[in-house]
Amino acid sequence: MSNEKKDKALWSGRFSSTPADIMQKFSQSLDMDWRFYKHDILGSKAHAKMLGHIGILKPDELNKITKAFDEIEEEITNGEFYPTISLEDVHMNIEARLIEKLGPLGAKIHTGRSRNDQVATDYRLYMKDAIEGIQSKLNLFLNTIIEKVQEDIDVIIPGFTHLQHAQPISLGHYWMAFFWKFHRDLKRFQIAYETTDINPLGSGALAGSTLPLDREFTKNELHFSNITENSLDTVSDRDYLLEFLFAASTFVLHTSRLSEDLIIWNTSEFDFIELSNAFCTGSSMMPNKKNPDALELTRGKTSGVLSSLYDLMINTKGLSLTYNRDLQEDKRPVFYSIETVNMILDIMTPLIKGIRVKEESIAHHLNKGFLLATDVAEYLVLKGVPFRDTHSIVGRLVQYCLKENKTLETLSIEEWKTQHTAFDSDILSILSPRSAVDRRSTFGGTARTEVKRQIEKAKALLNL
Ligand code: ARG
Repeated sequence: MSNEKKDKALWSGRFSSTPADIMQKFSQSLDMDWRFYKHDILGSKAHAKMLGHIGILKPDELNKITKAFDEIEEEITNGEFYPTISLEDVHMNIEARLIEKLGPLGAKIHTGRSRNDQVATDYRLYMKDAIEGIQSKLNLFLNTIIEKVQEDIDVIIPGFTHLQHAQPISLGHYWMAFFWKFHRDLKRFQIAYETTDINPLGSGALAGSTLPLDREFTKNELHFSNITENSLDTVSDRDYLLEFLFAASTFVLHTSRLSEDLIIWNTSEFDFIELSNAFCTGSSMMPNKKNPDALELTRGKTSGVLSSLYDLMINTKGLSLTYNRDLQEDKRPVFYSIETVNMILDIMTPLIKGIRVKEESIAHHLNKGFLLATDVAEYLVLKGVPFRDTHSIVGRLVQYCLKENKTLETLSIEEWKTQHTAFDSDILSILSPRSAVDRRSTFGGTARTEVKRQIEKAKALLNL
């Protein structure tokens, strides 16, 4: 970007002097919106074609304009054309270049158009591409999770509530839990896509146009699915970005929770998993360290994305209708979120793939924390003891074991029987984590059969 050239702003007619240098710096949005250049040109070409369609541009004029836009796009892509901050933004830089190339003919491009509907058009086109990119990476990520579910369906780990041992679960079931969370995110990105996929062009500065602009024509040209209904709403609306930021927020929130679990599992205290070296770093001082930085950064970067949602909500909450320049600040939070979501997906997919599950080490944890206590209580329920009573019987049993330094699995049948007459020798057969998992076969439970059912459903949803 250059700021040496002092081009006259395209709105300079009303002014007898130029803005202060500091005002130009303050006012420019090029550092953010130059990345719209392709979409800006796409939108402008469609607008020109529509102007040709309604007879405002002659066919040869339209051809010249289209050709000039193609050349400008090439100049930018080849690094031959740099924008200048005296022309504020991507829109005026490209328009000024068109006028430079075509003279008075170039000056016709902004007919019936305002930067207020132009920026909305560019942004919506840009976001459609960005969302599609994220969705395809998210699909890959979901595939990786399904592979992991299949690999680990028979691995049993302690399940936690309050980060305390609760009940045994299948590790496949755990991964599957994240499949559903991320699949809801995929759907949320789709909702954001649909909200975005509506043509704002033709709304003008705020009130539409006295010219017979054909909005259906530009809708078709730009492959939008619909047309916005109200020009005032259109130029003041940033809901489509909020919807994207909400989808991005729940997505990173989920990656952050997953990271937290994996960080814990990766400690020597837990030792459930080993992370690939590719996603860890060492310490500058302590030679022993292998830190799970990729996961910590995923958790850390989440705050930036969550703030982005609030950033844009706060930006818009007090704005009178319609366009106010505050809206120019709608880009930084969204671009940060797009980049972060993409980076997290690029990291998380191979990271999850490369996790080594340490089954032997996990097995030691299955003997701790009385994971089968609920199973014992439910055993008594089936013998006709009311659940509340079984709960306190087993609670006392746990106390007994703690005092005697025993586990449920090491109690003798005599000890069981002294706790309650309903205990019989068949109690011993339920005391295995494997059977505890497989007996939880209620719809959505952790049993192998239920995890398999989920895998089939998930595969169908991903068209696998
Ligand atoms: N750069 C501006 C933005 O990003 C474009 C719209 C400016 N409109 C205006 N009336 N000043 O919002």
